[in-house]
Amino acid sequence: MSKVALVTGGTGGIGNAICKQFAADGYKVVTTYFEPEEQAKAWQEKQDYEVTIYPCDVSSYDDCVKLKEAVEADFGQVDIIVNCAGITRDATFKKITPAHWAAVMKTNLDSIFNVTHQFVNQMADRGFGRVINISSINGQKGQFGQTNYSAAKAGVHGFTMALAQEVARKGVTINTLSPGYIATEMVMAIAEDVRNKIIAQIPVGRLGTPEEMAAIVSFLASDNAGFITGANISANGGQFIH
Ligand code: CAA
Repeated sequence: MSKVALVTGGTGGIGNAICKQFAADGYKVVTTYFEPEEQAKAWQEKQDYEVTIYPCDVSSYDDCVKLKEAVEADFGQVDIIVNCAGITRDATFKKITPAHWAAVMKTNLDSIFNVTHQFVNQMADRGFGRVINISSINGQKGQFGQTNYSAAKAGVHGFTMALAQEVARKGVTINTLSPGYIATEMVMAIAEDVRNKIIAQIPVGRLGTPEEMAAIVSFLASDNAGFITGANISANGGQFIH
């Protein structure tokens, strides 16, 4: 029986590449969407692989309870979670508002708890599970204009390190992937002059690709990665070496 992989934020750049890679790996792939249903259905129809989509505001615990009920009704269980849903509300600290702060903390950090909490105990009971949390280079080094995002993404890896210890003996691994600047809509939304200055700081000399991130996630989800847990994999073209 194929494993069931849940990827949050699969309609985004990195999430979509992960879903596609997982389908190629032979998993049943399910993802969440937050955009209007029509838009999400149109996205689903455009994909050249099989993916089932569920509406879910990952920043809401109640929505994640409903997600669990729906996915388990359709697929029985979840074996792999990739917490990928995320947003930016960039502003200098002088200009940041409580709403900017709260939106990013709720979507990028609370969501990791809300989603993982639904499934991890059953993974432990069955003796196999994989949780891969998508953080960011900016959670590792901090980024001008991103006190909210950097704090949330650093928090993601704190969660990874703690939960990894709790479930290690049960065949469940918890890891973080920290992508650098990847060619997605999120990065293309940065003003061009600012973006070009950032690209100039990447030793590899280019943005990363979503497919490069998906290949790492695919490995972390595999049986061969059973000895890797609590790790933070940096994939940033050499922009932050530590
Ligand atoms: N370090 C030091 N000073 C900086 C700086 C930096 N990195 N960037 C800008 N400044 C300076 C500017 O030179 C400017 O100085 P002066 O006032 O003396 O001219 C001042 O700070 C204000 O900067 P801006 O004009 O840029 O301010 P703004 O309010 O127009 O824009 C901002 C602020 C929206 C945060 C903008 O700087 C920005 O978009 N920065 C990039 C943030 C970024 O990297 N976001 C990542 C998004 S993608 C993502 O998050 C995915 C991922 O995981 C990697």
